[in-house]
Amino acid sequence: MSKTKIVIIGVGAVGATTAYTLLLRERVDELVLIDANKGKAKGDAIDMNHGLPFLGRTKVWAGEYEDCRDADIIIITAGAAQKPGETRIDLLKRNVAIFESIMTEVLKYNHDGILLIASNPVDIMSYFSWWKSKWPVQRIIGSGTLLDSSRFRYLIGEELGIDPRSVHAHIIGEHGDSELPVWSLANIAGTRIPFDEETKERIFTNTRDAAYEIISAKGATYYAIALALDRICTAILHDEGAVLNVSTLLQDYHGVSNVYLGVPCIVDSSGVREVLKLELSESEREQLHRSAQKLKELIQSVEV
Ligand code: NAI
Ligand code: 2OP
Repeated sequence: MSKTKIVIIGVGAVGATTAYTLLLRERVDELVLIDANKGKAKGDAIDMNHGLPFLGRTKVWAGEYEDCRDADIIIITAGAAQKPGETRIDLLKRNVAIFESIMTEVLKYNHDGILLIASNPVDIMSYFSWWKSKWPVQRIIGSGTLLDSSRFRYLIGEELGIDPRSVHAHIIGEHGDSELPVWSLANIAGTRIPFDEETKERIFTNTRDAAYEIISAKGATYYAIALALDRICTAILHDEGAVLNVSTLLQDYHGVSNVYLGVPCIVDSSGVREVLKLELSESEREQLHRSAQKLKELIQSVEV
């Protein structure tokens, strides 16, 4: 069997926590850390290697872009992160400039891997990466609303005293302020979730604004996104066909086209194998259109 390899570009709070999560779960044979701050990547690699006697097989090192050559998955978590009070969109220009240089390097060495983007604003950074790489769209995946859906399921489960793994509920659209909850399809074992409008509003607001709360409390979010990225990697590496709310390029999705947004997708070793079309209510469709319109205008503003 050939070795599996993941490269993480950007070993800050999200990248380092993702690396540690992949290490603990023994997901891959080889894990490479790349950062503009070479000392940070080197220090993290040494630190993680010192834990290997308690774990298993993963080889970890601080690498160079050449190491992308035979990577199965390249995760990009590099770039500016929000400070308290900033939105994800405030990062756009800075992170497009950073991605321009990162993508130029990655594309020199890898032509057939899968790119998994987490840097914000993630839908636009994923669109930019797809546009820049000219790779088939299925191989450029954004983490999308997988994290938001996970927050949503957790909060619904908390309210009802039910394990969040048994809650089926989706956040779709932008990973950000224009995202929307698909209450019309939310269910537990096929039964409707018995919330009044006020409870729904409170749960959705807490979901949408979770990152602001965490960033103002401790400066960054990284544990849950690391688990979400690990989940996507597992679906790819194990050819699972798992349904995950990742960001992909939509084409005639309820009339929305040519924009990356988070929706349920079937993810396997090919990347996004298929986009699942949810049966949305009229008002959900309108909200999805508003989210798409917002992102399209932003894409045009950076002349992508
Ligand atoms: P951080 O500031 O802790 O780490 C960013 C890292 O990127 C730093 O180590 C920095 O040296 C590195 N970097 C900057 N420019 C680089 C370049 N040209 N090449 C290689 N490395 C470079 O930030 P944090 O908290 O890890 O967040 C990273 C990104 O992930 C942010 O854009 C943040 O908004 C996003 N994020 C996305 C989430 C999602 O659900 N998609 C969840 C949480 C964060
Ligand atoms: C999050 O939702 C900041 O996008 C990041 O945690």
